[in-house]
Amino acid sequence: MKYLEKKNRAVIGSGKMAGAIIGALLRNKELNPEQITASDPYPEQRERVAKKYGVTVTGDNSETVKNADIVILSVKPQVLASVSSEIKGKIPANSLVFSIVAGMPIATIQKGLSHKAVVRTMPNTPAQISAGMTVWTASNEVSDSQRQEAKVILEAMGKELYVEHEDSLNMATAVSGTGPTYVFLLAEALVDAAVHLGFSRRDARLIVLETIKGSVEFAIQSDLHLAQLRNMVTSPGGTSAEAIYQLEKGGMRTILSKAVWAAYQKSQLLGKKAEDPPDSPLRVEN
Ligand SMILES: NC(=O)c1ccc[n+]([C@@H]2O[C@H](COP(=O)([O-])OP(=O)(O)OC[C@H]3O[C@@H](n4cnc5c(N)ncnc54)[C@H](OP(=O)(O)O)[C@@H]3O)[C@@H](O)[C@H]2O)c1
Repeated sequence: MKYLEKKNRAVIGSGKMAGAIIGALLRNKELNPEQITASDPYPEQRERVAKKYGVTVTGDNSETVKNADIVILSVKPQVLASVSSEIKGKIPANSLVFSIVAGMPIATIQKGLSHKAVVRTMPNTPAQISAGMTVWTASNEVSDSQRQEAKVILEAMGKELYVEHEDSLNMATAVSGTGPTYVFLLAEALVDAAVHLGFSRRDARLIVLETIKGSVEFAIQSDLHLAQLRNMVTSPGGTSAEAIYQLEKGGMRTILSKAVWAAYQKSQLLGKKAEDPPDSPLRVEN
């Protein structure tokens, strides 16, 4: 029997990440479509979701959460306050709130919903093909069985890592949440470089993506340190050594480290913005 068989799921906000979660849970047969109710303000989006997944859809957020054992919050951070005021007091007392809202602190969600059992997660876009990496934490009021339920949802989306401290979610935002951006930028730059050498764009894309995929799978399956794997292709006086010399000269490691640090600080700042009133000097634009 699947762990979530008797659970009803409410999904607030039926966008990309919600679709990823619903799709993954149905694919893994953790839930049947009739156990899921998804809400969205736009009829066309509701129609798309109903047609694609066979789940119940509604435009009424409070109706969505009424009988839910687990409420998944999948809206953009800027609409969470208005969504919270709609569903506050309507979530059953023993339900779990499962948030994927980027940068939104657990305390803010608890306050907005008057609900204590909250799991906060930071997924990434490969979750759309069940290859995501999600870092998550939970409030003290989340029971052991609710933690297990959260884990089942997360495992349907890819790999998961539980962390004790909430600030690790800001760190994860900078590394894994934002991570696909770094990888796609690197891939894009390599494709452009390959085109510069004379490959067609189509061939360059194939060569670059398969090289990244193969290298990542090799690293995952290997016990060796990443530096040892790199040394394996760095012969003395060879092409890799020449390329690495230029990358180090250009400050690649420093630039990456600075980028990740900046993303971490931005994540902390956005979390503060969510906690602070609108006229706070900490408010920043996204
Ligand atoms: N995408 C990522 O890589 C990623 C990674 C980690 C975390 N997240 C977080 O995941 C959350 C969802 O992101 P996403 O990429 O899935 O965004 P998205 O595709 O824009 O999905 C959000 C959905 O919520 C709907 N919505 C807007 N107002 C609503 C309301 N009042 N009640 C119910 N639904 C409402 C939106 O409808 P309309 O579009 O029609 O307005 C949209 O369908 C965000 O908080 C984001 O920060 C995203």
